Amino acid sequence: MKTEKENKEILTLENVSYRYSDADKNDYVLRNINYSFELGKIYAIKGKSGSGKTTLLSLISGLETKYEGNIEYNGKSLKKMDLDLYRNTYIGIVFQSYNLLPHLTASENIILSMEISKVKVKDKKKKALELMKKVGLSECFEHRRVLKLSGGEQQRIAIARSMSYHPLVLLADEPTGNLDKETEDEILNIFKELAHKENKCVIIVTHSKNVCDNADVVYELKKNKIEKHELSEK
Ligand SMILES: Nc1ncnc2c1ncn2[C@@H]1O[C@H](COP(=O)(O)OP(=O)(O)OP(=O)(O)O)[C@@H](O)[C@H]1O
Ligand SMILES: [Mg+2]
Repeated sequence: MKTEKENKEILTLENVSYRYSDADKNDYVLRNINYSFELGKIYAIKGKSGSGKTTLLSLISGLETKYEGNIEYNGKSLKKMDLDLYRNTYIGIVFQSYNLLPHLTASENIILSMEISKVKVKDKKKKALELMKKVGLSECFEHRRVLKLSGGEQQRIAIARSMSYHPLVLLADEPTGNLDKETEDEILNIFKELAHKENKCVIIVTHSKNVCDNADVVYELKKNKIEKHELSEK
């Protein structure tokens, strides 16, 4: 049985439509999307290339603001929020390209995002090492520059960084796109722990059937519409 806390809606999209500024008047990438995301669940968003998945994530993360409809985080409209604070503190974002700073070390990348965030962390270095351990990277990676990490290792650092200030929502764009099945499973286990043990809301854009099979809810962006496939209740 679920507790009220576990079911809490954290993000809601109400009649959200969006078209890029240079598109034709009726050329909407996203049209009338209504949905809510709850804490404690993993959501997979799939859809053909060009169906608007990354666009949807950029709206949810407050990077695109000229949409129609309403997006609320914890009951508050993004239109009324300080979006820098929202991005640096309330949500974690894992970009497909990782967006790590290549000349900094693995741990410096994590510490930097704690510094940018408003969340207070006593010993940032210790916290960075704990996070690295959590995503399966030993201390020997601490001083390694990002330039010298493999794709899968960079992916783990990007996830560790996005969690460093304890956001309730984690958004990830194709986080396992370039990984083998075994590494993908390891990354999925990190997401499962975050959603099912730490009660976070994890939203993953993906083409991977394995990721969809492991999600609690799968959405498909199709013909400018979001379709929901609730796979299982855990
Ligand atoms: N900055 C932009 N200006 C105009 N059109 C854009 C812009 N970015 C994306 N688009 C268009 O919007 C549509 C949706 O793009 P989006 O990147 O959201 O797709 P996607 O589902 O993430 O695709 P993929 O699986 O290939 O990553 C595409 O037709 C794309 O060409
Ligand atoms: Mg995309």
